[in-house]
Parts: sequence; C-alpha cells; structure tokens
Amino acid sequence: VPVDPFDLVVFGATGDLARRKLIPALYHRMRDGQAPESARIVGAARSEMDADGFRRMAEEALEEFLPAAERDRASVARFLAMLDYRAVDAMGDGGWDGLSDALSCDAGRPRAFYLSVAPKLFGPIAGRIAAQGLGGDGARIVVEKPLGRDLASARALNAQLAEAFDESRIYRIDHYLGKETVQNLMALRFANALFEPLWNARHVDHVQITVAESVGIEGRGPYYDGVGAMRDMVQNHLLQLLCLTAMEPPARFSADTVRDEKLKVLRALAPLDPREIVRGQYRNGGNATSYIDDAGDPDSRTESYVALKAEVANWRWSGAPFYLRTGKRLRARMSEIAIVFKEAPHSIFPGDEGAERPNMLVIRLQPDEGITLAMTIKDPGPGGMRLTDANLDMTFAQKLGAMTRMPDAYERLVMDVIRGDQTLFMRGDEVEAAWAWIDPAIAAWEAASEKPRPYDIGSSGPEDALMLMHRDHRRWREIK
Ligand code: BG6
Repeated sequence: VPVDPFDLVVFGATGDLARRKLIPALYHRMRDGQAPESARIVGAARSEMDADGFRRMAEEALEEFLPAAERDRASVARFLAMLDYRAVDAMGDGGWDGLSDALSCDAGRPRAFYLSVAPKLFGPIAGRIAAQGLGGDGARIVVEKPLGRDLASARALNAQLAEAFDESRIYRIDHYLGKETVQNLMALRFANALFEPLWNARHVDHVQITVAESVGIEGRGPYYDGVGAMRDMVQNHLLQLLCLTAMEPPARFSADTVRDEKLKVLRALAPLDPREIVRGQYRNGGNATSYIDDAGDPDSRTESYVALKAEVANWRWSGAPFYLRTGKRLRARMSEIAIVFKEAPHSIFPGDEGAERPNMLVIRLQPDEGITLAMTIKDPGPGGMRLTDANLDMTFAQKLGAMTRMPDAYERLVMDVIRGDQTLFMRGDEVEAAWAWIDPAIAAWEAASEKPRPYDIGSSGPEDALMLMHRDHRRWREIK
C-alpha cells in the first residue's frame, strides 16, 4: 500500500547504520512503489557536503550493500533524485535554518526525524528540533537502541524526549519487531484457533529463545565492551520475543493494545535468580581472535554470551519457564523460538516408553525463516509399530514463491513511521520495565566483579549454560 508523500530527515546520514540499512531500505520502498518519488529524504550531519555529494555517498552505499540484481539504473536515479542534504550542527545553532528551508511547508505532509546518531545526542537533537519549531504538526521522531544503559538513564532519556515530543510521536526501534517472522508469530498465535488452547503452562513444558550469532564484535569494541550481551541483546530483542510469545491476546491489533499486553508480561517477570544466569566470553579458535583481543582489553569482564532462566509469574505461564540465550562467535547463526510441549501422558506403544518425543513448535527467525511443528509418526514401512520423529515444515521463502526477496526489518519500520503506526515500536514504559528487570542482575555481577566463563569460538557456549537446563532435566536445542 503506497504511503503519502513525506519528509524524512536523517540525522547522522553519513554514518554506518544509515548507509548499511536505512538508505537501502528507503530505496527498496521506492522501487516497490510504496514510497512516492515526491517524498523528500534530507540527510543531515556535521560534514560540509552538498546534495550531490550526499547522493554520491548514497549511491555507493547501495552498491556496497545491495546485490547488483536489485539495482537497476533507472530506479537508482529516481531514488537519488529524492535525496537532499544539509550540514547541521546538532549541538549548536548552525545549519538549522537551512534544514528548515529543505522541508516542505505543506502542513499535511508527514514529517519524521530519524536520529541515526550517538545516543547522547538523542535528547539534545530532540530539544533543538522542537526549539526550532520543526517538531509541530504531528512530526515524529525515531530513535534506536541503546536506549539507556540502565533504568535511571533510560528514564532520563524518556524524560528528555518527552519534553520535545508527545509519546504518540516517539518511535523507538527494536529492529527485531520489523522481522517478518516476528510479526508472523503474532499471526500464528492470534489468527489461528489451533494453538491458543495449548498456549499455557498446562500444555507447554518450557520455551527456549535462542539468538546465536557466528560473528564476533566486529570492530565494535568501543561500543560493545562494557555493554555486553545482556544489555545489547537481552534487554531489547530477546525480551521483545519473550513478550510476543507470552502475552495475552490483545483485543485488536493496534499500537497501545499490543504494547499494553507486552508491558504486562514484563511486569510479570519474576526477579532473576543470579544462579540462573550464565555469562560467557569467547576465546581461542582457529583464525578468529578472542573477545579480549577484539575488545583490546585483556581484563575485560564484558560478556559476549548470556543464558538465563526467566519465569513469567502469572496464571498462564507459572511453571513453564522461558530459557533465553544469545551469544557471539557461536557455532552458527541461528535465531528461533521453540515452544516445547509436555510429553503425552502415557505411552501405549510397547518399546517406546521413556523415549523423549515432545511436540515442539519452532519459529525460525533466521536464517531460513519459517515454522516447524515437530511430531511423532509411525516409522513408514512394514517394520511394525515403530515410532519416529517427523516435521511439519513451512518455509516462508517457498510460500512467497516468485517474490523471493524478504524485506529487511527497516523497510517495514520506516514505512510504519510514515503511516503513523506505532504497533511495532517500543513504548517508553516497556523500555523502562525491561531495564527494571535486568538491572539488579547486572548490578550483582558488577559488584562481585564476576568474570564471564570462557567458551570456545565455534562452540554452542559455555558448559555451565548446559547445566542451566540439565538441572531442570531439560536440554537446549542444538545450534546448527
Ligand atoms: C544489534 C546488536 O541490535 O543486533 C548487535 O547491537 C547484533 O550486537 C544485532 O549483532 C543482531 O541483529 P540481526 O538482525 O543480525 O540478528
């Protein structure tokens, strides 16, 4: 569905996120006919550059980050014509008049400011936008994590943003919410009658959420070191996945009904037990360098892996824990949510007693997005009544058929900003509730100067993470 013509100002337009994600996403939306060519995309950054200079940079970004098959000359030329640029001093007065001139005077035109800048600039830039009178008429502001590094700083940031923009106009991105399969989780749960009766601790034994990466911290040491997997991944992406899995059905699919239900889940989380958290740090392994080398600090205590057991203490989930794990430099890139059901109460098949064959619903986020339902069937053939495992499998790429390109999360999210739809964005109170839950755990290990457990590059994480499950007579799914 095409969106109305809009003005989008991208602060930090020459930075890595803008080049890698945002510019390609906007290009695709235009090429697919969703973003009209009369939309204006105004890059704003400190560098002195003219519009042509910015267009050249954008063209190079498309070349670097999109396959040639997706870049036909005509579309690229049409896209570049939508771009403009203004040098703006985010912390001072310089350049703001020029920025204002670049924007349309049409009050009915949606206007959004995307802050692809260092987080310490979020508050000051929001304040300047308002002070310059550019924030009126329903203008929206977009920010992305890190949204604070603990509850206090997240509160301070929310307060700063609130001075300049109403909550209904603040779009906090968690790019996991823009992933196709994550949205599909909601379709699966709330557009099918089949699962809801089983979606509770009476039938579900536990849930496993895994976001495993094979990459390391890739030159991001200065950001990542001192932050770690708990803040970088659990506080946002993994908790969002947990919320969507655990929440009650909202009355309708709208921004506040969905976010109210997610917030209730966050508030229902039982305090984390420090004994149920395992932190790890990668080391050794072939040609890859260890975490401390990547971070440039031999004494770093930052975790590149974390596994934990969470309890959603409410009627639906009490007794069915959620195990979460995420880490870098693991065996494979694999993200999934596995709902592991309870075993059949009694086995009628001789010889099959004690076999562990729980039904499992696996929602694969990446790679190979899709859904698998693990079942038990009769082993085909004349060999008697022997049982075996079989999967009911659905891969989205197959379903999409000819349309093989999966849109990137940012494509969906940026268009939602223009449409004014906040459903897939985090509300301020959600962000705070997530910090409130993880803060005490971080404070405890920081106070104890606890060292993360080493794990080998290319493994599935530290041994202790296996124990986290074994203690409960459960086991992690294989990372492969
Ligand atoms: C980011 C984290 O938010 O998500 C990174 O800061 C991480 O550390 C990335 O690598 C993972 O995103 P994706 O979409 O590749 O799973």
